[in-house]
Amino acid sequence: MEIRLVSVALDQMEYDALVVLAFEKENGRPAAFEWIEELYTSGELKGKLLETALLHKPAGLKAARLLVVGGGKASKFGPAEIRKAAGAALRLLKSKGARNIAFALQAGHDAAEHAAAAVEGAILGDYEPDRYKTENLDERKVVESFSVLVPEVAPLVEPARRARILAEAQNFARDLVSEPANRLSPGKLADRARQMAEEQGLECEVLDRERMQQLGMGALLGVAMGSAEPPALIVVRYRPDSPAPEGVHLGLIGKGVTFDSGGISIKPSENMDKMKYDMAGGAAVLGAMRALAELKPSIPVTALIPAVENMPGGRAQRPGDIVTTLSGKTVEILNTDAEGRLILADALTYAQRLGCTHLVDAATLTGAIVVALGYVHVGLFAADDALAGQVMSAAAAEGEKMWRMPLDEDYKEVLKSTFADLPNVGNRWGGAITAALFLKEFVDATPWVHLDIAGTAWLEEAKPFSAKGPTGVPVRTLARLALDWAR
Ligand code: BES
Ligand code: MN
Ligand code: ZN
Repeated sequence: MEIRLVSVALDQMEYDALVVLAFEKENGRPAAFEWIEELYTSGELKGKLLETALLHKPAGLKAARLLVVGGGKASKFGPAEIRKAAGAALRLLKSKGARNIAFALQAGHDAAEHAAAAVEGAILGDYEPDRYKTENLDERKVVESFSVLVPEVAPLVEPARRARILAEAQNFARDLVSEPANRLSPGKLADRARQMAEEQGLECEVLDRERMQQLGMGALLGVAMGSAEPPALIVVRYRPDSPAPEGVHLGLIGKGVTFDSGGISIKPSENMDKMKYDMAGGAAVLGAMRALAELKPSIPVTALIPAVENMPGGRAQRPGDIVTTLSGKTVEILNTDAEGRLILADALTYAQRLGCTHLVDAATLTGAIVVALGYVHVGLFAADDALAGQVMSAAAAEGEKMWRMPLDEDYKEVLKSTFADLPNVGNRWGGAITAALFLKEFVDATPWVHLDIAGTAWLEEAKPFSAKGPTGVPVRTLARLALDWAR
């Protein structure tokens, strides 16, 4: 889909559809455009967020259709709302066969912010996880262009470019998450990372099982034992041409379990198909790197994705097994389904050895975070308030909701093992917190933030502005975190 910025009067351009926003009437405020007035008086439109009304051959317009999209309360209308409105408009018009769509920006707002959000909303809304559907291919609907109608083009070119890069990176991550485990093994994920790195001019190195054995990554290797697919530790590096002097080196670590059967502590079969998404953290980190390669922050960023398949094969690790992590600490495996923290433990240690000064990990780590925060907020855990603040602001700016969770040491009482330094699980209470505290054992003084994305990486039902399936959260937050460091 081509993204355009156009500065022409609304009624002058030929499009399959023109999209305009209409708001709830607060204190009798008039509608944004006169033609919409009738929709209000007839009661067909109230202006509620994502409400729609489609008119054909609107008088005085060259566009074939006019789609009115509700913007909600004008006073509460911001980038998050415009992202949704643009996505919903695109999806509705695409389903009706529109190929060339124009979206009119609302005057009186920060045009750069709003144009960027509209571009993101359209690209994200266009995403469909239908790669493996072979029926009716010739009837597949395609939007050729999405034009944002703006007051002045020049100042919006860069914000729109950035928005396109971020949204395409997010869709890249969603594509990886959509891939089923038979087509995306740890080795294949490494291939995709290598290919992306090559295309974008990033460095990529993949540590194989032998290398991990030499280094002593017993926790990561233990998880990989039950699968015929060999593990891979994917390392992707971005180095700025002239790094900022502070010596910051950001490490992004993403959980890359290409399938989580639970291992010997096997999961129930219901919904197990969804566990192909257990590499969503790794995909998000790769998506962020793809965006950063183009947007070029001034700090070096290294991505680490421990990629494994958690399976119950004949060589699988057993409950009761004790592994020695790269850090030297020993872990008693009480539940082989708590595999994410094991592979992340070794990746976090390795990231510190590579010289990362700040760490952010993203992982579909616990069902408990879904119990705590549902499908809305990412659970954010941090030992460092400053980095937590940076991630929270990046997330807020990108409209990816995050909620800070406690990381109080009192929760650690349940992390006691009779035979090793640590067990890999606590009890069922506060499970997302004890998982985060387990990870913290593998981070020394380095500022670190952990994002539990188990509830937010996957959309259970389609929304007007998004397909069902992978969301690509938190690609934009991770990319923005690195970009904002530059300033
Ligand atoms: N990948 C899962 C987390 C998960 C579970 C995401 C359910 C979405 C829905 C993770 O590896 C896992 O299995 N966690 C266990 C931990 C438990 C054994 C302590 C969980 O949350 O049930
Ligand atoms: Mn698991
Ligand atoms: Zn898992």
